[in-house]
Amino acid sequence: MTEFTDALVDVVAATETALLKLIPENEGPEAQIFQAMRYSAMAGGKRLRPFLVIASADLFNVSRLCSERVAAAIEMIHTYSLIHDDLPAMDDDDFRRGELTCHLKFDEATAILAGDALLTLAFEILAHSDTHNSAKIRADLVLEISRAVGARGMVGGQMLDLVGEQSVFGKPEITRLQRMKTGALINCSCQAGAILGDASETQRHLLNAYAHDIGLAFQIVDDLLDIDGDPDELGKATNKDIKAGKATFVSLLGVERARVQAEILINQAIKNTESFGAKGNLLRDLARFVIERHN
Ligand code: IPE
Ligand code: IPE
Ligand code: MG
Ligand code: MG
Ligand code: MG
Repeated sequence: MTEFTDALVDVVAATETALLKLIPENEGPEAQIFQAMRYSAMAGGKRLRPFLVIASADLFNVSRLCSERVAAAIEMIHTYSLIHDDLPAMDDDDFRRGELTCHLKFDEATAILAGDALLTLAFEILAHSDTHNSAKIRADLVLEISRAVGARGMVGGQMLDLVGEQSVFGKPEITRLQRMKTGALINCSCQAGAILGDASETQRHLLNAYAHDIGLAFQIVDDLLDIDGDPDELGKATNKDIKAGKATFVSLLGVERARVQAEILINQAIKNTESFGAKGNLLRDLARFVIERHN
């Protein structure tokens, strides 16, 4: 795993350098919005979605200058989703990435605006010519990512997550919820790498299958960690999902069967990277990391 660990350290450093460069540090009466954006974006985080963008783009020898900008844009979208997810009207959390949540560090209005601004800035970056010299590729990125994070993707999944607190969801509904809430952004991270690399339909299909499986497994592990994880290691509170009545694979299947399900998904994901040969090593290691992680 050392190749993977080194690659993850590199991705974290590259993503954080890009985030610092891309999130302005403006003065003036509105300075607080920039402070809040940087606060949440720089508070840590595993940077797994940037890793997926960069590792997928590396399969096709894409310039790191391009893939790191897209990785940072996707991490901004992810950070916005966490800021809003933690708001009192949603999961009402006090800690994120080991720090106070954005609305407690600043205030609710600032947290809402910081989320809005990170989401918008992400699309400004994707559309900018520094991200890729082909306008077609930039438009394809915007199309893919906007579809993944809107009402038919991540935001729709967050809606279902809240509806699920008041309803009884079966396996098909929970699968759809998790695919939208978490899977869509994970999937579009891989697809973004493929778009940058002008991948073939077959390659895109394989990455789609890989991402689909790790996306579901990723959320199952998140839900398991809510039950048996260490809040200090996780940087966020645990034991919240049962209290809130969340519909998860763990609430449906129980801890043991949910873990088995996550393992099946990860093995399936690894199979789908076989045709990438040695170039797929990092994606395979990431899949194992998803299930072995403690934070
Ligand atoms: C947490 O995501 C939210 C989910 C989608 C489950 P991560 O576990 O990737 O959070 P960070 O980015 O490492 O803080
Ligand atoms: C968050 O899922 C999903 C998104 C932000 C889209 P969770 O609510 O389970 O994430 P945590 O546990 O707060 O990190
Ligand atoms: Mg939530
Ligand atoms: Mg939450
Ligand atoms: Mg959770």
